[in-house]
Amino acid sequence: MSEKHIDEISGVETTGHEWDGIRELNNPMPRWWVWTFYATILWAIGYAIAYPAIPMITSATKGYLGFSSRAELQQDLDLAKASQVKFQDMIAAKTVQEIDADPALREFAIAGGASAFKVNCAPCHGSGASGGPGFPNLNDDDWLWGGDLDSIQTTIAHGIRFDNDADTHVSEMPAFADMLDKDQIRQVAAYVWSLTNKPSDEALAEAGKQVFLDNCAACHGEDAKGKLEMGAPNLADAIWLKGRGEEAIVQQVTAPKHGVMPGWSVRLGNTTVKELTVFVHALGGGQ
Ligand code: HEC
Ligand code: HEC
Repeated sequence: MSEKHIDEISGVETTGHEWDGIRELNNPMPRWWVWTFYATILWAIGYAIAYPAIPMITSATKGYLGFSSRAELQQDLDLAKASQVKFQDMIAAKTVQEIDADPALREFAIAGGASAFKVNCAPCHGSGASGGPGFPNLNDDDWLWGGDLDSIQTTIAHGIRFDNDADTHVSEMPAFADMLDKDQIRQVAAYVWSLTNKPSDEALAEAGKQVFLDNCAACHGEDAKGKLEMGAPNLADAIWLKGRGEEAIVQQVTAPKHGVMPGWSVRLGNTTVKELTVFVHALGGGQ
């Protein structure tokens, strides 16, 4: 094998291997390629020593550096949790006004409030908080019990006509079926409707004004714009909680319906109630 065989056609040295007259030319790989190849082998060995690599029966070799993607994830999670706990502690310690005034805290509270709202409040108030018959829209600036931060917090914490909470909002509209006769009820309904719409009968509405002042103004106000401390809705806007039209008003006056909402401070805790307060206040109608 010492003598060289040169292929006559290509002029390239052969390896000396020959099958049926076909000779193998000796074309080695370029140096740089070979060295790169060796380098990758060395890298792979080093990597297999430093990091978990070789599968064993229950797990893999641990690796010299002790790296674990699970531990890394856990570390990330711990960090995230620590900053969340930090924010939550701050929310627990601060008033809703202080939370609302601090941009980072406010953002955190709104995010937390939004997710708590989806789970606990959306079934009644709708996923966009726009309400429905009997359930108020929380996006508008029409408030039954007040739209400033403190009022919203009280409402959410203690609920409305919620028997299990001594601090809940109470106040009910009396049933006027026994106090007013049918005509008076038709009159006052026409009057209330006339504040925002064309009544079925102008004279009827005219006559209803006095009935209203005598029987309804104590709660709904002489101007019918409602009273927050009574939870008595504004009747002079075109927003109706119970239903639209004179017939709906007749019904509410004859046999009033009252909305009930549970209080949330016991169930969700005060921190979540604060987050919900800042969230609801930020929906657009906060005062
Ligand atoms: C079981 C149904 C129900 C659930 C669940 C519910 N609400 Fe209510 N909510 C009501 C009703 C009914 C009213 C109106 C009561 C009334 O007529 O005065 C109301 C009123 C309110 C008001 C007062 C609006 C105003 O105009 O003053 C706020 C604020 C409010 N809800 C927030 C929430 C939040 C936040 C949650 C979730 C933690 C929630 N609600 C869950 C039924 C519900
Ligand atoms: C003791 C206080 C009180 C008196 C008096 C009272 N109301 Fe009310 N009224 C309320 C409250 C509270 C509500 C809201 C009930 C609820 O939120 O579930 C209400 C709701 C209504 C509604 C429904 C409003 C809507 O947006 O759908 C109408 C209409 C209404 N009252 C008309 C009258 C008329 C007319 C009279 C007089 C004949 C009257 N009320 C007297 C407290 C009162």
